[in-house]
This record gives sequence, C-alpha cells and structure tokens, in this order.
Amino acid sequence: MKGLILSGGTGSRLYPLTYTNAKQLIPIANKPILFRVIEAIRDAGISEIGIVVGSTEKKIREAVGRGGHWGIEITYIKQEQPLGLAHAVKVSRDFLGEERFVMFLGDNVIEGGISPLIAQFADSDWNSQIVLTRIDHPEQYGVAMLGDDGKIVQLVEKPKQPQSDLALVGIYMFDSNIFEAVDAIRPSYRGELEITDAIQWLVDNGFSVHPFIHRGWWIDTGAPGEMLEANDLVLEEINYEIEGYVDRDSKVGRRVSVERGAEVINSIVRGPTIIGENARIINSYIGPFTSINYGVTIENSEIEHSVVLENSEIRNIDSRIQDSLIGQSVVIARSPIKPKALKLTLGDHSHVGIL
Ligand code: TTP
Repeated sequence: MKGLILSGGTGSRLYPLTYTNAKQLIPIANKPILFRVIEAIRDAGISEIGIVVGSTEKKIREAVGRGGHWGIEITYIKQEQPLGLAHAVKVSRDFLGEERFVMFLGDNVIEGGISPLIAQFADSDWNSQIVLTRIDHPEQYGVAMLGDDGKIVQLVEKPKQPQSDLALVGIYMFDSNIFEAVDAIRPSYRGELEITDAIQWLVDNGFSVHPFIHRGWWIDTGAPGEMLEANDLVLEEINYEIEGYVDRDSKVGRRVSVERGAEVINSIVRGPTIIGENARIINSYIGPFTSINYGVTIENSEIEHSVVLENSEIRNIDSRIQDSLIGQSVVIARSPIKPKALKLTLGDHSHVGIL
C-alpha cells in the first residue's frame, strides 16, 4: 500500500498564523502535526508516501525533506489550486498507480495510530474503507448514515440538519476505482470536488465501502480552539523527560519535559507541559497544558493552556495569558515609554482578548 497526505489547502481559519506557515507544520506538543501523520503511516508499515502540496510547498519541503529521516520515501505532488479533497486524489493518480492507498488529511490528529485499520484493509477485498466517529456537532463535518445492516447508505458534506452523529474522520482507504469516482463527480456548491461525493459514487455504483467506527479521540485542527484541544490530548500521551537545566529555586511537576539546552530559572512549571530546546523560563509560572516551542523566552510572566511557537518572547506581563495560540517570533512585552497604553503591531486577522 501507499500513503497520500493532503497538505495543500488555504488554512484560512488559522489566519494570521497561516500567512507565513503551513497549517500542517504548526506544532502540537512541539512536533508539527504533519510529522505525527507521517509517523502514523510509517508505523503502519507504509514506506512510500506522497504529499499533496499547494502554495506552502516550499515550507513543507524544507521541513520534511525526502523522508530519509523516517526511513521512508516521500514524493511531492503539486496541486495548483485547492479545489477539494477529491481533486487532490485526481492530481495524485500518477504517483498512486494501481496500488491500494490510505489518504490522511495532514491537519488531523488521531489517538492510537492506524496500524489495525491498514492491516484490515490491506487483507480485504473492499474497494474502500472509511473511518467514522461519533461527535457533538455533525453539521460541521462530512456525515455518514448507515443502514440497519451497518452498511453505508448516504454521505453528506456539512448537512444543515444531520440525520446521524457519525462524522468522517480524515482518514480514507481506497483502491484504484476511486479514480473513476473522482472523474465522474462535479464540483459542489463550494466549488470543490468533495471526497464525500466520490465515496457516495462508489456506494451508488455497487463498490464495497466498509465503515470503521473509531472509538478514541480525533481532532481536525482547522481552527485555533481545535489546535489547543489537540495540544491538550497529545500532552496527556507523551513521555516526559528533563534534559535541560532546572535551577534549585524552581518547582517543576512530574509531567513536564524540559528539552535540551532549555533553562528554567526561579519558576513554577505545572504539567502536562513541554518546554522546547533552548527556551528560557525566568521568574515565571507555566501552567498545565502548555507547549513552549524552541528558542522562546518567558520572563516575569504567567501563561497556561497555550501554545507558543518558536523564538517568541513574553516579558513582564502582569495578567496571566491563557487559552492562547501565539505565532513565531512574536514579542509581547511591557513598554517603558509613556503614555500608558496598549501599543500593538498585529498582522491581518489577529485576535487579541483584553479584559
Ligand atoms: P480543510 O481544512 O478542509 O481546508 P483548508 O486547509 O483550505 O482550511 P480552511 O477551511 O481553514 O481554509 O482541508 C483539510 C486538509 O486537506 C488540509 O490538510 C488541507 C488539505 N487540502 C488539500 O490538500 N487540498 C485541497 O484542495 C483542500 C480543500 C484541502
């Protein structure tokens, strides 16, 4: 089997972070989501992976390389316009050939890996397998309705009045019949070739599509709140290690990682939390569910339940920062120059919450 990761798209729900970075490269517990996806596919025994890329191709190539680091071979597939998930399959046809494949959305995080699913599909004669999970707001997702026999009857993309709470998780398995399906369907009202329409075409034309109900957690990290939620869940799972320096005046909890070259000076760090390489935490409080990426400095400040990307600085802030997603090389600091006022330089689509 081959792997196909979708890493194109616009990422508009994560502006301004996605003006300068690919959404799939935003780190969750200090590791880019895309790396987690690559590792899930590699761990399922697949060594040939195609990555569909769009306008952020350069960033993704720089971060991922050719795959040698993971012992796999990576091929990049350019999608000129983000015309939908089924369109991404269409442009990948040369790479996929006649092989069965797993398609994984590059911004999805799932509990427990996909090895059992891949093994089940590889040994079956099904034409497709889709992964479903029960969720609270099905109207925001592709939704599947199953018949009394457990087989798929209908798939609907973002239904206004959902008839089922089973959402399609961003992991799909297909054989080469999917190419006939993606050629047969027409763009939806969003102007995209929808993968739900292509799977519905398979069902309607007598191909076997097997539903698998996933029982663990799954997060589609499209928006900031979902990024923080994914960060919470992954921080619960990782192994913690202190490799950096913690001075005697600091208190660091049990589920805290301090990576190489990082320093914690006269500070309190409560886990689960990760402090990245060469980060510096000085006279500060870092609360639970926080990921501090490499090169970040936090001084005389308090932060919890947040993600801070590389090389940012937070200094001398009286109010506790929480529930925040802070980009790369951001500076949040107290200004010594009068008048006493908020002085902001913010990118387009920034969100600032002030009490
Ligand atoms: P989405 O989150 O549905 O779309 P998006 O990335 O454009 O985000 P937004 O709605 O915030 O603008 O995409 C799911 C995944 O599939 C994501 O990793 C991007 C990828 N994708 C493609 O590779 N090609 C496409 O044509 C589309 C629509 C998405």
